[in-house]
Amino acid sequence: MGVRIVGTGSYVPEKILTNLDLQNMVDTSDEWIKVRTGIVERHIAPPEMSSGDMASIAAKRALELAGLEGSDISVVVVATTTPDHTFPNTASAVQRNIGADNAFGFDLSAACSGMIYSLELAYSLLMQQKKYRYVLLCGAEKLSCITNWNDRNTCVLFGDGAGAVILGRCDDDDSGQIASDLHLDGNYSEILQLPAGGSRNPTSHETVDKGMHYIHMLGKETFKLAVNAMAGACRNVLSESGVNAADVKLVIPHQANKRIIEAVAQRIDVSTEQVFVNVHKYGNTSAASISICLDEAFRSGQLQKGDIVLLVAFGSGLTWGAQLLRV
Ligand code: ACO
Repeated sequence: MGVRIVGTGSYVPEKILTNLDLQNMVDTSDEWIKVRTGIVERHIAPPEMSSGDMASIAAKRALELAGLEGSDISVVVVATTTPDHTFPNTASAVQRNIGADNAFGFDLSAACSGMIYSLELAYSLLMQQKKYRYVLLCGAEKLSCITNWNDRNTCVLFGDGAGAVILGRCDDDDSGQIASDLHLDGNYSEILQLPAGGSRNPTSHETVDKGMHYIHMLGKETFKLAVNAMAGACRNVLSESGVNAADVKLVIPHQANKRIIEAVAQRIDVSTEQVFVNVHKYGNTSAASISICLDEAFRSGQLQKGDIVLLVAFGSGLTWGAQLLRV
């Protein structure tokens, strides 16, 4: 018995914000953004659209591809840093919108590593609990609502969107998780955080006046930690499994910055052709990025049944990890 990805879907809002648009908003340039990040444009959700709305569209597309109904889903997980509400969870909005009447579900908070963490749960649940048939994992973010559009250090980096992945048990023993390597380190929580809005600093006029409801990030520190952590996690899953980097069909890194992706690829010795990149189109969509990539890779035929894929991410927490899968 194995576990297979049976369907994927994604959604990005229609509105595109280009680097040229940003030039008119803050002191930046298309050239600076492209050279330092690889980002050309990002999608921005309209005010009335939430992370849960985007996740629901992505989930419906994944169900359609899998040939399943909402009622076939046993578990709904939504990885997000921008939930619709503190409570109820965003998973309940997705459950309602797709008619997942037989599911339980919850949100998962691991910033950009959300899909890597969610996959760990999905593979474990499906391998150990026969009563769960299909698990729906969504990564969804409306980062535009926690972005300070006057701060050039951060506003050029982020975008909105959602992806969905459905996993199910299959007869094929080869399909499934080959190795995983997950980490959490709270010693660097200040370098990347949303300072207010939680129980540490509840929202007040003062927190809003100080802009504490926006993403705060020390870019350079994050960059260095991300490269080392992501390369380390990749090396760990490859050495644990005995799989050669050359045998990996596709490496799908979290899409934060093209320079981070290139530095990781170089350190683990994979070719440019093996690395999936779409950061130029969407910017950093945090928990959504890997599931959007997976959907694009399956639909374009870059990933096919039986291929080995290496997923790797790094985010606030710090959270990081890698998943080596045969899909
Ligand atoms: N346009 C023009 N100039 C800018 C901009 C901008 N948008 N932003 C910063 N600069 C300036 C800085 O002010 C600085 O100027 P100075 O030298 O006069 O002080 C100069 O450019 C260089 O700034 P650095 O921060 O050193 O630039 P760097 O090459 O490090 O790139 C970046 C910055 C893109 C943010 C990079 O550090 C990065 O990608 N970091 C990682 C981000 C990341 O991975 N986040 C991941 C997780 S996100 C999550 O979990 C939600």
